[in-house]
Amino acid sequence: MIVNTSNVFNFNTDTSGIMIIFGGTGDLTHRKLMPALYNLQCAQKLPANFAVVAVGRRYRSHEDYRYEVYASIKNFARFDMQEKTWHELRRKIYYQQFNFTDDSGYTRLADFLKQIDEQYQTWGNRIFYLAVAPEYFGVIVEKLQAHGMVHNGAGWQRVMIEKPFGRDLYSAQQLNQKITGVFAEKNIYRIDHYLGKEMMQNIMVIRFANMLLEPLWNNQFIDNIQLTSCEKVGVKDRGEYYEQAGALLDMVQNHMLQLLTLTAMEPPASLDTEDVRNEKVKVLSALQEFSPELVQKNVVRGQYGPGKAQGKPVSGYRQEERVSPDSNTETFIALKVHVENFRWAGVPFYIRTGKRMPYKSTQIIVQFKPLPKILYARLNGQMHPNLLVIKIQPQEGVFIQFNAKKPGTESQIAPAQMDFCQNCTDGLNSPEAYERLLFDALRGDSTLFTRWDEVEHSWRFVDTIAANWKQQDSTFPNYPAGSLGPREAEELVARDDRKWLHIK
Ligand code: BG6
Repeated sequence: MIVNTSNVFNFNTDTSGIMIIFGGTGDLTHRKLMPALYNLQCAQKLPANFAVVAVGRRYRSHEDYRYEVYASIKNFARFDMQEKTWHELRRKIYYQQFNFTDDSGYTRLADFLKQIDEQYQTWGNRIFYLAVAPEYFGVIVEKLQAHGMVHNGAGWQRVMIEKPFGRDLYSAQQLNQKITGVFAEKNIYRIDHYLGKEMMQNIMVIRFANMLLEPLWNNQFIDNIQLTSCEKVGVKDRGEYYEQAGALLDMVQNHMLQLLTLTAMEPPASLDTEDVRNEKVKVLSALQEFSPELVQKNVVRGQYGPGKAQGKPVSGYRQEERVSPDSNTETFIALKVHVENFRWAGVPFYIRTGKRMPYKSTQIIVQFKPLPKILYARLNGQMHPNLLVIKIQPQEGVFIQFNAKKPGTESQIAPAQMDFCQNCTDGLNSPEAYERLLFDALRGDSTLFTRWDEVEHSWRFVDTIAANWKQQDSTFPNYPAGSLGPREAEELVARDDRKWLHIK
């Protein structure tokens, strides 16, 4: 059994602070942030001196707001509602109503935070969480500064920023300029919630804590690596946002490239934040540059049409709410890319992600090279490639496939499979991504957040693809909902004599 040592959940309870959540009545706060805070409270991982101030545009009293949060926690927290624990958290939650562009609201907020500081002894420490539409990121940080809430002469002040961080490299640079004009880079926590997932953190442990794997982790032994993240759901009610994003910006620019960097990076000099991030950036800067010809050849985009999900008919993307009936937005992307460095020269990385696919699954599949066909030439058809699969979700674990003799008097070979599942055991309830991220931000550890140069490199990579797509017509829709994507995605790997793999 592989022991996961990545879940080091120590917390210095002397840390104190106020978390101010802009977008307090929004979906993210209710589905993810408040349940995560409750889970942390259950696990006694919140600082002793701690309060939450939610800011929203809708009117709510503190009591109304707590009532709503209670319902969300009941629905979405991984721990059952325990009234005693809720009561402990409940009295630390407050609500402030104002429009994010309204100066008088910030004046009231600053006064309110001072009161809370005294009441909870939080010493000026603040985390501003921007769970709002991206157009408000800039204005909120500027107003926080103008109203003296950032450099308040005491403690620490940090900002947590949800994705998307920009729409392209240029807008990301503009946004970054605004934010770094107020917060120093070390106090900026750019969220990629994939980094908070238990198995994403496990990638480094699996790679760098196992003699069995690390020496083989290179182009001498690995044939190809597949990074897949399939989703069963469509765009739900996020049509307006998704029309601007598409799978390239929504998944590849962030989550898929994070999967790639953690899989391909060199061992860092230490586990210190900057050492880890430096290695990740090196991978991004070694990504093969895409010419228009390469985009055409190695990148496939798709959009789902009507089809079936769990046996029931579902509409196509163009029929979804707030989606244009002739939308050109991709809901699927598959691509082949090389990491052009010594370790990976010649090894293709295949990336695939899409909505309305038959199952939900995120996996890293490492396929090893075949051995010389000398001893078992006669049984060649029976030999399967060695596979190592890191299962990120929904199952969390590691799968290994190797060849073994089939029991019996005849000499035959059959693949043997070892499947370690970390979250299958009853009672093993992995922390949610946001739990880990809030926890880390509160204790000032930004290792699981993206540094500016990571963001910059990943925009550079996806911008080239986006720019090329603008020049070419798409033939959407090109895959039915509930299928594995367009035929061209199969052809992309078939051209190299390979297949997409999925391990159940
Ligand atoms: C989000 C995307 O960042 O990640 C969504 O905006 C996507 O479109 C989601 O559904 C996937 O996250 P997870 O954790 O469900 O794999």
